Amino acid sequence: MSTAAVPTTSPVQVAPDTFLIPNLAHGGDDVYVPVNSLVIRGREPIVVDTGAPIHRHEWLEKVYSIVEPEDIRWVFLSHEDGDHTGGLDDVLTGAPHATLVMNMFSTERLALERPVDLRRLIWRDPGETFDAGDRTLRLFLPPIFDGPATRGVIDERTGVMWAVDSFAALTPGAVHHVADLPPDLYDESFVLFNSMVSPWHAWLDPAVYGRHVDSVERLAPSVVATAHGPVLTGEAIGDAFDRVRSLAGQPRAATPGQSLLDELLASAVAA
Ligand SMILES: [Fe+2]
Ligand SMILES: [Fe+2]
Repeated sequence: MSTAAVPTTSPVQVAPDTFLIPNLAHGGDDVYVPVNSLVIRGREPIVVDTGAPIHRHEWLEKVYSIVEPEDIRWVFLSHEDGDHTGGLDDVLTGAPHATLVMNMFSTERLALERPVDLRRLIWRDPGETFDAGDRTLRLFLPPIFDGPATRGVIDERTGVMWAVDSFAALTPGAVHHVADLPPDLYDESFVLFNSMVSPWHAWLDPAVYGRHVDSVERLAPSVVATAHGPVLTGEAIGDAFDRVRSLAGQPRAATPGQSLLDELLASAVAA
């Protein structure tokens, strides 16, 4: 993979008091994989996921430019995958008043990697909520996920939905809204990424899976933000739900193999 610098990114406001914390990783020639998280700066500020380890310093800088660490009251961890836990230890140390929102299974899995202080946890499951002073956050099971303990969350005050690993797509740079992406790049990488993340879509009954996707869409988000895709608003929201619905029963996308590795190695040697 390229070691060249990725484009610089800055926090982007996506709703009142709600900021996307973007970072980028190389995803091919002049395209990048978003690695986002979210900060909600309400009465009890919430950090939603904590980025990837390679972005740890930039992630902390961006988060703390939005909210003072001692003011953070909640850290919602969607799941324990490494690209969502990069700043977790730092933020729990820097934000002594923060409570971590997880579930039994994600806690068990995280505890295989690092100590987890049970006194700083609450557990919530899909359909349940937690109260952050001036807003209620409701958990749900995302349409697409790559870890069984994954939970999404929607802020019932603003309608901002965090859909975690669902709706992923490449970006050409520091471009964070779906309307600003080249349509071809969005179309192709959406299918590839969502298929790679949840290859079990090939075995799904479209009707049964469609009912699950419907149940998430009925939460009626005003804005959808995700860890690895663009911010969605307006018609792009229903369109993204339709795109994942249509994966049910379809063959999984072909992924690059040894020939790509050969190319990468050849270009690394030539550089
Ligand atoms: Fe994941
Ligand atoms: Fe992820």
